[in-house]
Amino acid sequence: MSETLAPWRSLLARSLHLNRALPNARYCQLATLTLEGKPANRTVVFRGFREGSDCLQMITDRRSEKIPQILQCPQGEICWYFPKTREQFRLSGTIILITAEETHIHHRQARDRVWQELSDAARLQFAWPCPKQPRPDFPVAFTPELPSAKEPDENFCILLFEAMTVDHLQLKGNPQDRTLYTRTHSGHWQMEAVNP
Ligand SMILES: Cc1cc2nc3c(=O)[nH]c(=O)nc-3n(C[C@H](O)[C@H](O)[C@H](O)COP(=O)(O)O)c2cc1C
Repeated sequence: MSETLAPWRSLLARSLHLNRALPNARYCQLATLTLEGKPANRTVVFRGFREGSDCLQMITDRRSEKIPQILQCPQGEICWYFPKTREQFRLSGTIILITAEETHIHHRQARDRVWQELSDAARLQFAWPCPKQPRPDFPVAFTPELPSAKEPDENFCILLFEAMTVDHLQLKGNPQDRTLYTRTHSGHWQMEAVNP
């Protein structure tokens, strides 16, 4: 993680702020590669930046299909459109998985914190039956005991997304503005205005 914040981070934060009246502006699409090397894409909720870094936080269930995909290939792409400001961010980078087995103290603390900030309804989903398995006919399976609000459920994972390139397209304006941000080996960001 870099010590100084990336130049695109404040633009993304600004877009989130300007689009804050739209609840779905916090939804982005996260693409990974299946074990067969095919694209797999799904909607996830952005859960804020990891404190003091450019890493984007998301949560997921460790029983979901994306987990083995990320373990095999931790590369992913996020695509995010902000309707009010009419901008798209495409972030390509590495996904860091934080599970119940995490040993790094800061990662463990972050996992606890994010879990504690969730609503009861969101926490409950981690105690539901396994994703993508045939649906049981007994509804009781979906009314488990409410998980602890303090201790994360063992299925609860955090995904940290560390961008290596960011492609920012702003539709407002003629011609439209497109800027590429690329992280160098030394951790600095290069910025280039390109044709849309
Ligand atoms: C609006 C919306 C928000 C979602 N948020 C999340 C999320 O934050 N984390 C998550 O794992 N899945 C989320 N999902 C479900 C995923 O899109 C997906 O169906 C699920 O994670 C299983 O994906 P996988 O089989 O590729 O792992 C959301 C779906 C929608 C429609």
